Amino acid sequence: MMVRVCVVGAGIVGLSTAINIQRLIPAAQITIIANKFGNDTTSAGAGGLFRPNLGHIKGVPIDTLKRWSKISWQHFSSLALSSEASSSGNNVTNGFVLQDTEEPQFLNEVIFSYHKLSRDELQRLNSNQKHGYNITTVITEPKKYLPWLMRKYKEHGGQVVFRTLTSLEELCGQYDVVANCCGLNAKYLIGDESIYPIRGQLIRMRAPWIRGFYYIEHDGYSTYAVPHADYMILGGCRQEGNFSEEIDPALTEDILRRGKEKIPGLEGAKVIDEWAGLRPTRIPIRVEKESMKLGSRTLKVVHNYGHGANGISLSWATAVDAAQMVNELVDSSSHSKL
Ligand SMILES: Cc1cc2nc3c(=O)[nH]c(=O)nc-3n(C[C@H](O)[C@H](O)[C@H](O)COP(=O)(O)OP(=O)(O)OC[C@H]3O[C@@H](n4cnc5c(N)ncnc54)[C@H](O)[C@@H]3O)c2cc1C
Ligand SMILES: *[C@@H]1O[C@H](CO)[C@@H](O)[C@H](O)[C@H]1NC(C)=O
Ligand SMILES: *[C@@H]1O[C@H](CO)[C@@H](O)[C@H](O)[C@H]1NC(C)=O
Ligand SMILES: *[C@@H]1O[C@H](CO)[C@@H](O)[C@H](O)[C@H]1NC(C)=O
Ligand SMILES: *[C@@H]1O[C@H](CO)[C@@H](O)[C@H](O)[C@H]1NC(C)=O
Repeated sequence: MMVRVCVVGAGIVGLSTAINIQRLIPAAQITIIANKFGNDTTSAGAGGLFRPNLGHIKGVPIDTLKRWSKISWQHFSSLALSSEASSSGNNVTNGFVLQDTEEPQFLNEVIFSYHKLSRDELQRLNSNQKHGYNITTVITEPKKYLPWLMRKYKEHGGQVVFRTLTSLEELCGQYDVVANCCGLNAKYLIGDESIYPIRGQLIRMRAPWIRGFYYIEHDGYSTYAVPHADYMILGGCRQEGNFSEEIDPALTEDILRRGKEKIPGLEGAKVIDEWAGLRPTRIPIRVEKESMKLGSRTLKVVHNYGHGANGISLSWATAVDAAQMVNELVDSSSHSKL
């Protein structure tokens, strides 16, 4: 009997989950249902710097965060070192993390290099921040990586349906297992009151003369510059609980001011466009099996959402776990039918 699996969501989490299910259960017939694809998703706008950090990922045990970081790193760094680096939008890069307050971190065990700067090195960088790191990591460009994932998925027979769901109940009887990767919309689709947005806004600029990234945590702000192949991303802000996807011009001015103050080399960079997005935040990220009671029926669901500020970095690892859970649910249903 053919196993029918539905993945709700075509952001980075949904696509990664679908591909991992294909790998684990080759015989499964998989359908992605979503109402936003590619550039229209939250995922597409992200900076994509690989730097899972404890300060932004709350409620996940450190051992799990380390395990996820290592699994995801293995994936993204292999792509960045392969002949698919450009087509998949993954590149090895260097840059600086500069902080007023030192944040505990574990990435020296994970990424290529996470080197603490001495006081002297910080001074030579003209940095006012007390703490700094010199990092070699990977930047994933979501606008390139999402289409790459979609191509892989379709090459392996994956189906795609454009549709807006109002309840997972609509899927009862149609699929054996559902992977729910609906991001912030879990608030409405399944009534999860613990998910909330952290609004971000950023500017895309032309600054090809700046090659490395900067991630500067100062005065309660995060000001960052992340170079993509065709433009520089300059951010940002973190507005908890704010659902607005409109651009705030005053905030744009503030981001530009902070950016040029901290990275004077940005002077002369032309603005291409701006973007605001909502980080789907949940404490903790939800990667979990559930047998959902929907009306008079039950639906086997694996949830995978709430990745907040680290959804690009952690997408692959949480997808590996979610696919494993889908497989367990498929197994349990085939046993119950014997
Ligand atoms: C400004 C900004 C900068 C960021 N920078 C980084 C970074 O540098 N590194 C990093 O790791 N992360 C970063 N992130 C976070 C990252 O973008 C998110 O964590 C990640 O994109 C979440 O992916 P997702 O697939 O869960 O959600 P989404 O991309 O939002 O996808 C959700 C999917 O679910 C579908 N869906 C939802 N509800 C329904 C429904 N009812 N019916 C049908 N389909 C539905 C949507 O159509 C969509 O396809 C950043 C975020 C922002 C806003
Ligand atoms: C997505 O956005 C990028 C950058 O703006 C653009 O180059 C690309 O063509 C867009 N993709 C689609 C499918 O529109
Ligand atoms: C990767 O880096 C190289 C060298 O800087 C650049 O030419 C290329 O466009 C980058 N690719 C991506 C996908 O960012
Ligand atoms: C950053 O670290 C690399 C090694 O990981 C080293 O070669 C380089 O000199 C360092 N740069 C600074 C400014 O510390
Ligand atoms: C949400 O953010 C926007 C853009 O910065 C701002 O204009 C608006 O006042 C904020 N709304 C709330 C409720 O804070």
